[in-house]
Amino acid sequence: MKITVETLRGWKGCRPFGALTAYDYPGARLLDEAGVPVLLVGDSLGMVVLGHPDTTAVTMDDIVHHLRAVARARGRALIGADLPYKAYETPAQAVCNARRLVEAGAEYVKAEGGQEILPQVRAILAEGIPFMGHLGMLPQHVVEEGGKYRIKGRDEAGRQRLLDDALALEEAGAFACVLELVTPPVAAEIRSVCSRMLTLGIGSGPDCDGQILVTHDLVGAFPWFTPKFVEPRVRTGESIRSAAQDWLASLIPNY
Ligand code: KIV
Repeated sequence: MKITVETLRGWKGCRPFGALTAYDYPGARLLDEAGVPVLLVGDSLGMVVLGHPDTTAVTMDDIVHHLRAVARARGRALIGADLPYKAYETPAQAVCNARRLVEAGAEYVKAEGGQEILPQVRAILAEGIPFMGHLGMLPQHVVEEGGKYRIKGRDEAGRQRLLDDALALEEAGAFACVLELVTPPVAAEIRSVCSRMLTLGIGSGPDCDGQILVTHDLVGAFPWFTPKFVEPRVRTGESIRSAAQDWLASLIPNY
């Protein structure tokens, strides 16, 4: 059965679930066949696919190009995409770009931020486009914050800000919100105060409604950097290297 936003809403408080990033047709098709219910064409593609040092170089054209490939693999999973850096600076720009993502195959869109982007969130939702929030460590802001991926919610002001942002997104109508590098007690608190909005944790402890990961981290496909909170289940990078070496050795005597 096709997963919809309504399916996910029904899972709040009932069952945990997983979401993974996808950037191309085979990746999306394999994850869908594995039963992953939610796919995200994340702007992490800038780092793990396009080789940029952070996500700020990712453009709407990049996301649309990869989203189209993912959408060709559409099966059961709900497919969404990130609005990249500087693509949602005003409500009008946010709506225009969210519509572009929907036309390219997105069933929901995601953007980073809380109360400061509420007018954009409301405008997207007013178009009937399902919205997923993203709070905690915001990769699109990491350059402005001095290049460090810092844990959020450590002090009282940070905790309160996260709670206020989460409640504001829920009130606006976001169906889910990624909590990235939020201290586990604060992530648990957000999950319990938000009675309708699903929380999707990444590096934020076990007490979230679901968990989301960058697929390349899960399968060891970007071996040069793995976040501390991920234990790769396979080492695809090493398998690719050794397959290439085996093949070369079969071609070249005494390789
Ligand atoms: O861009 C991305 O892949 C993301 C996930 C880490 C949630 O935002």
